[in-house]
Amino acid sequence: MNKIELCNISDVAIGQALKVEKDGLVLAVFNVEGEYFVTDDLCTHGPGSLSESYILDDIVECNFHNGAFNIKTGEVVCAPCTERLKTYAVSIENNSVYISV
Ligand code: FES
Repeated sequence: MNKIELCNISDVAIGQALKVEKDGLVLAVFNVEGEYFVTDDLCTHGPGSLSESYILDDIVECNFHNGAFNIKTGEVVCAPCTERLKTYAVSIENNSVYISV
C-alpha cells in the first residue's frame, strides 16, 4: 500500500473540487460538507473532467453529457454513464489529503 499526498485541506472549499495530477494519476479531490473524497478525474463515459463539472451535495454531474456519479461511492446515478467511477481510500494527516493506492 502506497500513500500519496494530494493537497492541503484548505485547497478545496466545501462544495468544490480540485484536479490533482500525481504519480501518473489524474484525480479529483472533492470536499462534501467538510469530508474529503477522491475519484478519478476523467468521466468513465468520455472526455469530461469531473473536477470541472457541476457538484450538488454528493453528486457530480459531468459537464460533457450530464451523466452523474455519487462522489462518495462512485456509483452511476444518471445516464449516459454506465461504468462506475473509481474511488480511493482517503485519509487526512496534518491538514493534508492522502490516498492509499
Ligand atoms: Fe461525462 Fe459523457 S463524458 S457524461
